[in-house]
Amino acid sequence: MSEENQWGSRLGFILATVGSAVGLGNIWRFSYVSYENGGGAFLIPYLVALLTTGIPLLILEFSFGKKMRGSTVLAYKKLKKKWEWVGWWPVLSVFVLLTYYVVIISWSLKYIYYALSQAWGANPEAFFYSEHLNLTSGIESIGGINITILLSVVAIWFINYIIVYNGVEKGIEKASKIFMPLLALLMLIITVRGITLPGAVAGINKFLEPDFSQLLNSKVWLAAYGQIFFTLSVCFGVMITYASYLPKDSDIVNNSFIAALANCGFSFIVGIGVFGILGYMATQTATPFEDVVTQSIGLAFIAFPKAINMLPAFSTLFGVLFFSALVIAGISSSISMVEAVVKALNDKFAWSRRKASTIVALAGLLGSLIFTTGAGLYFLDIIDYFNMQFSIVSIGIIQCIVLGWIYKASKLRDYFNPISNFQIGSWWDIMIKYFTPIILGTMLILSLISEIKEGYGGYPISGLKIGWIVTGLTLVFAIILNNMSWQEKYKNIEE
Ligand code: TRP
Repeated sequence: MSEENQWGSRLGFILATVGSAVGLGNIWRFSYVSYENGGGAFLIPYLVALLTTGIPLLILEFSFGKKMRGSTVLAYKKLKKKWEWVGWWPVLSVFVLLTYYVVIISWSLKYIYYALSQAWGANPEAFFYSEHLNLTSGIESIGGINITILLSVVAIWFINYIIVYNGVEKGIEKASKIFMPLLALLMLIITVRGITLPGAVAGINKFLEPDFSQLLNSKVWLAAYGQIFFTLSVCFGVMITYASYLPKDSDIVNNSFIAALANCGFSFIVGIGVFGILGYMATQTATPFEDVVTQSIGLAFIAFPKAINMLPAFSTLFGVLFFSALVIAGISSSISMVEAVVKALNDKFAWSRRKASTIVALAGLLGSLIFTTGAGLYFLDIIDYFNMQFSIVSIGIIQCIVLGWIYKASKLRDYFNPISNFQIGSWWDIMIKYFTPIILGTMLILSLISEIKEGYGGYPISGLKIGWIVTGLTLVFAIILNNMSWQEKYKNIEE
C-alpha cells in the first residue's frame, strides 16, 4: 500500500472535510445555541465569527498542511523541531475526543435498533438513563461495563478502522462520497417531515425570531465563536492532516469558503427541521416551548424519542432514519480524527498505515471502555468539558502565535494566494495574529474563572480532577513525544 496518499479529486477533498466538520454538533447543538442566544439575531455574530476566525483558521490549517505535506506533527517539526509538541497536543486531544465520540455514535447505533420497536416506551427519559446507560448515582460508583453498548462500540471502532486502514483515496474519500450525499438526503427527509407537522411553524419561529437586544451581550458573541470553532473542527490537527493530501497547486482559499459554508448551511437547514419537530411536540402536549427545547444528548436520545412516539405516521421509519443520520454524521467525523492520529504515528515512527491504524483502533477501544460503564456519562461530560474548554482553546492560541508570529502569517499568505482561485488581503494576517488569539484568550480566561469559582456541572472536586489530569497528560505526552527520535527519512528536515 502506498503511503504517499493523495485525494483523487477536489470534490473528494471537499466531501471529506465537510464530512469531518458536519458531525453530531450540527444536528444537536447549533439550533439550540442559536435559540438561546438571540434566535435569528444570532446569525449576525455567527456569520461575523465565521468570517473573522472560522474561515481564516481553515485557510491557515489548509495552507500549513498543504505546504508542509505531512501530519500535524511532521508539519510543526518541519517548521522547527522544538515546535513539534504543538502538533502532538491536538493529535492527543483529538484522540481523547475520539474515545468518547465513538461511544456516542455507538449509542446512536443502538437507538436504530430501539427505534424498530420504539423500545423506549412511554418514558424515553427513564429508558435512556436506566435501561440504556444503567447510570449509577454518581461518578464515585463506576458500575459495570454495559455489554451491549460495548459490542456496539466495537462495531463502530471496527468501521472506523476499516475505512482508515484502506487509505486516503480508497478509504476516506470513498466513504465520504457515499456518506455525504446519503446524509444530505436523510436530513432533507427529516427536515421536510419536521416542517410539515402541525405546530412546526411555531417552533421555527422560536428558532428564527430575532432578539436584537442580545447583540449587546458579550456572552452571545462568545457563544458564536465557540460554536464556530467546534463546528469547523479547527485546532484539532485534523484539517492540517487532510490538507496535506492535496495535490500540488490545489486551491486553498476557495476550498475553505466552500467547506465552511456547506457546513454552516447544513446546520441551518437541520435547525429548521429540529425546531419544527420541537414545535410540533409543544403543540401536541400543550406545553410551553421552553419546556420541550433541549440540546445535545437530551435532544437526540430523549426529546426525539418522545417526538417519534407522537408522530401520526411512519414513526418507526422516521426513528430509523434519524438515528442512521446521527451514525453517518458521526462516522464521517470520527474517521478524520482517526486519520489525524494514524498519520502522525506513520510519519514519526515509520509505522505502516496498517500497523498504525490497528494500534490506534485497539488503544482507542481500550480508552472507550470507561465510557461504557455505569458512570460513563459522567466521565464523558467532564472530560469533554476540559478537553474543549482548556486543551483545544489553548492549542488554538499557541497555533496562532507560532504560525502567525514566528513562522509569519504573511509568508503563508504569499504561499497560498498564488495557487488559490481568488486572493485575500492582509486583513487575514490581522485575524490570525491579533484577533483570533484575543478571542480565544478571553474564552480561556472566562472558563478558568468559572471553573475555579463554581467548578463544573455540580461534580465533586475528585471528579473534576479527572478532567485536569487528562488535559495535563495530553500536554505532558506531547512534550515527551517531541523528544523522541524520528524515523531516518525525516530526521534532519526543517524548513
Ligand atoms: N465538528 C464536529 C461536530 O460538529 C465535531 C468536532 C469537533 C470534530 N472537533 C472535531 C470532528 C475534530 C472531527 C474532528 O460534531
